[in-house]
Amino acid sequence: MRFLIDTANVEEIREIHEWGVVSGVTTNPSLVAKEGRDFIETLKEIIDIVDGPISAEVISTDAKGMIEEGEKLASLSKNIVIKVPMTAEGLKAVKHFAKRKIRTNVTLVFTANQALLAARAGATYVSPFLGRLDDIGHDGMQLIEDIAEIFSVHGLETEIIAASVRHPVHVTEAARRGAHFATIPYKVFKQLIAHPLTDSGLEKFLADWASMKQTSV
Ligand code: E4P
Repeated sequence: MRFLIDTANVEEIREIHEWGVVSGVTTNPSLVAKEGRDFIETLKEIIDIVDGPISAEVISTDAKGMIEEGEKLASLSKNIVIKVPMTAEGLKAVKHFAKRKIRTNVTLVFTANQALLAARAGATYVSPFLGRLDDIGHDGMQLIEDIAEIFSVHGLETEIIAASVRHPVHVTEAARRGAHFATIPYKVFKQLIAHPLTDSGLEKFLADWASMKQTSV
């Protein structure tokens, strides 16, 4: 499983990208609104940092509008992936983009059937929203497993992005159940890297080393 960072905050992207583990970025209208910056300017800055898929979401609700927006967004870089909502109009737009070899990420996926429809329309990626399903008492992780199984049984090449990730257990489980990517918020990346035994272990190693005389490397 590969890592995407789920944010429109350029500083967060820059920091985590330096770890060398980030394959791409996902944004959505809420994340962009949170930053209060121009969308296109933000995307251009992200494009300069990350050489990998960068999902940019359309806000039109009809296929024609989605196509117009998506074509403009795709012209910014070969790395732009058009994020399209899981609706009938969205599927029409996905079909169009697939013919034009423009990659798509179908978002707001909450059932295996939605994922299957998106894949058949030609989506490059589907984004099942784990956290939001858990929030309403459903099993988000089971959805990842179901989609992975269905795509595998039917030889579908569409890749699964585990989205709406809320904590490190989501990341481990998404990897175990066959998600190709997890898109992870900055805060969860920080949780992934940390362990108290790593901190205390390193502290002890350094203290022991400092307690004796040693030639430096
Ligand atoms: C990613 O593609 C989604 O936009 C994002 O993961 C949604 O996460 P949320 O449910 O925490 O808003």
